[in-house]
Amino acid sequence: MIKIPRTPRRRTTRSALPSAVTAVVAVAALSVAATPAANAASTLKSAAASKGKTFGAAVANYHLGESQYASTLDTEFSGVTPENEMKWDTTEPSRGSFNFGAADSIVAHAQSHGMKIRGHTLVWHNQLPGWVSGISSGSDLNNAMTNHIAQVAGHYRGKIWYWDVVNEAFNEDGSRRQSVFQQRIGNAYIENAFRAAHSADPNAKLCYNDYNTDGQNAKSNAIYAMVQDFKNRGVPIDCVGFQSHLGSNQVPGDYQANLQRFANLGVDVNITELDIAGSGQQQADDYAKVVRACVAVSRCTSITTWGVTDKYSWRSGSTPLLFDGNYAKKQAYYSVISAFGG
Ligand code: XIL
Repeated sequence: MIKIPRTPRRRTTRSALPSAVTAVVAVAALSVAATPAANAASTLKSAAASKGKTFGAAVANYHLGESQYASTLDTEFSGVTPENEMKWDTTEPSRGSFNFGAADSIVAHAQSHGMKIRGHTLVWHNQLPGWVSGISSGSDLNNAMTNHIAQVAGHYRGKIWYWDVVNEAFNEDGSRRQSVFQQRIGNAYIENAFRAAHSADPNAKLCYNDYNTDGQNAKSNAIYAMVQDFKNRGVPIDCVGFQSHLGSNQVPGDYQANLQRFANLGVDVNITELDIAGSGQQQADDYAKVVRACVAVSRCTSITTWGVTDKYSWRSGSTPLLFDGNYAKKQAYYSVISAFGG
């Protein structure tokens, strides 16, 4: 099992380069790609599209002004997840005071390039402003939570494909994480959050998202039971997100079977934050296993890598992405294309 650093970092926002500059770079990149050897599956997004899937990346707004970052994103990816910009500490840093600037620019970029948007995330114990943790009454915290969801999901109403409504609510042993939401509101906070998100944006598909759920284990079993219960009682849930932050040689043998059992409950499955440590053949093989599993599960509608380039990855020391620090395509990039059948 890998250990993942979870210390929130704060960063400042920089404005994007003029779009004309970005467009010139994007055209240049496309003409390089359009060699005689190129075929329909010459990019991640076209390879994924040939199997009806979306291939996304987590994006940081302050990198969109870097021309190679933007051109790689625009050429290769058909989906976007804001890496930090929609989290509670950014969107509602003090109670009732909302800030959508950075997330709005990512959304505008995605829309102008025809990319689908995964909203991330409405309720999470990390990157949570101090005022939320300081609320002592359950009913007050429930009001703050449902208002946060109404405002944020309401602001983006009609623009979000999938929302990660609740993130990381379970422990490895399948028990509930003792977050402030669990402690003050109790078990019902998760369904309260899903109902609030459904009211705020009835057309967005609503996901529960977590890590270390990539095979059948105590944690994924607990999530499975929750989804089954929500389906039985009509709590609006449409999707389960599997973060899939993986170490090298750690794709579980039952990865596909695990996705399929969730799909069989009547929800979509998304691979939401994929990154795999390592390099070379091992990394290429690990990526191929994940892609083949998604291809084999018709309700697996999207794969998102947690970043574009190794140099900006939250696990950059593990070089876990498909483009290196110079935006060169890695071996794993080509294995992803061929795992989609390209
Ligand atoms: C990470 C970001 O990549 C970092 O930039 C930030 O400092 C911390 O959060 N699970 C999640 C993501 O759901 O939101 C986290 O993103 C990675 C783990």
